[in-house]
Amino acid sequence: MEANWKPFRIKVVEPIRLLPRAERERKLKEAGYNLFNLQSEDIYIDLLTDSGTGAMSQAQWAALMEGDEAYAGSRSFEAFLDTVREITGLPYILPTHQGRAAEHILFSCALEPGKYVLSNSFFDTTRANIKACGGRPVDLPSPEALDPESDRPFKGNMDVEALEAFIAEKGKDQIAMIVLTVTNNTMAGQPVSLENIRAVSEIARGNGIPLFIDACRHAENSFFIRERELGQGDRAPLEISREVFSLADGCTMSAKKDGLGNIGGFLAMRDRKLFERCRERLILVEGFPTYGGLAGRDLAALAVGLREALDPEYLRDRVGQVRWLAERLRESGIPVYWPPGGHAVYVDAGRFLPHISPEEFPGQALACELYLEGGIRASEVGSAMLGREARFQFVRLAIPRRVYTREHLEAVVAALVRIAERRDSIRGMRLVAGAGPLRHFLARFEPLPG
Ligand code: F0G
Repeated sequence: MEANWKPFRIKVVEPIRLLPRAERERKLKEAGYNLFNLQSEDIYIDLLTDSGTGAMSQAQWAALMEGDEAYAGSRSFEAFLDTVREITGLPYILPTHQGRAAEHILFSCALEPGKYVLSNSFFDTTRANIKACGGRPVDLPSPEALDPESDRPFKGNMDVEALEAFIAEKGKDQIAMIVLTVTNNTMAGQPVSLENIRAVSEIARGNGIPLFIDACRHAENSFFIRERELGQGDRAPLEISREVFSLADGCTMSAKKDGLGNIGGFLAMRDRKLFERCRERLILVEGFPTYGGLAGRDLAALAVGLREALDPEYLRDRVGQVRWLAERLRESGIPVYWPPGGHAVYVDAGRFLPHISPEEFPGQALACELYLEGGIRASEVGSAMLGREARFQFVRLAIPRRVYTREHLEAVVAALVRIAERRDSIRGMRLVAGAGPLRHFLARFEPLPG
């Protein structure tokens, strides 16, 4: 009990409702069986994403009121800059409206067409941005990650041997960049160890290849390092994150995750020349370098949120909530990727619905059932999102930060248990509209005839 105390209470409430089943059926059909097409007010518990969906603290709301909306030289930008510099130690920082804007600016300025970009695993927008800039994204995840049951501490790692082999085979000049995603979202939100980051950094520096961190969930990753890595237990998450960034040449960050913001992001780096190119691009597509697509008040809230996300008590509660849900599901016989990651529980729809082949989108089918059963929205991370490159058929239950209580999560467990009782009757889906690497956002599906 002592160890499990909740480090906040609720001051503002937002009403939600559970529509009757018949209504949910109608809404889902109208949405083309794509949960991105549903209206928020038709959802009871929204686990679509942990991005921009968190609850801000009273300190963040107070900072918001003090936001300085000056076009240039805003006080709020200075506060944001102080925080980002303190956490990352990186000298050159550009604010962006969210993570993918930082990615796009970086790749459009740093990539030469045809060159490879290597990663432990890319997030879908990152991969798409690299391709859009003519680059060739390649995932090199640790082989451990492919076993959904092995209880290993750092299944988000990059495969260091594969990295060395790739560089030796293609030549270092063909590799534009290495990107480490911490935590590794498409690999079930698994953390990356400090040892792995150090090893990748050494290889990158030895070959003169820039290393960037996709830092959306760096605070959760640092918490896992503190909990699980030998010799790290006494270090503050901030100290660990600082070391992580010190090993890199820069980072992109969606501050909608571990910035505890509803919007925002940044791009940071050491290379002044690259920074100058990126800054020019930023002015072209986002805004002046002291606001970069954000209001002053957003920057002010992020200056506070980025620090709060590194509070060890907040992180204990956050990661603990995700673990609690994963444990209850596992006890109930629902196959979940193990161990749980930092921001989401990944239900293994491939094992849950073994009678549905990847071509018939078992994850999409399960995500639809979850909405029909409990008014719960989750996202598919499987063949609907990633096509043939999907290694798993996941339904991701992403937990917004500081938003839902244990009662909400109990309702999620209960819904999945009821679905499990009738799983044999669940049918696969057919894609009826949608193409390209980001098709899952706009696609339409139909249940296959029974
Ligand atoms: N990198 C990772 C690892 C992400 O998870 C995301 C977003 C981004 C980059 C892009 O950031 O959304 O601010 O442009 N992930 C969200 C998700 C959308 O649901 O996992 P963004």
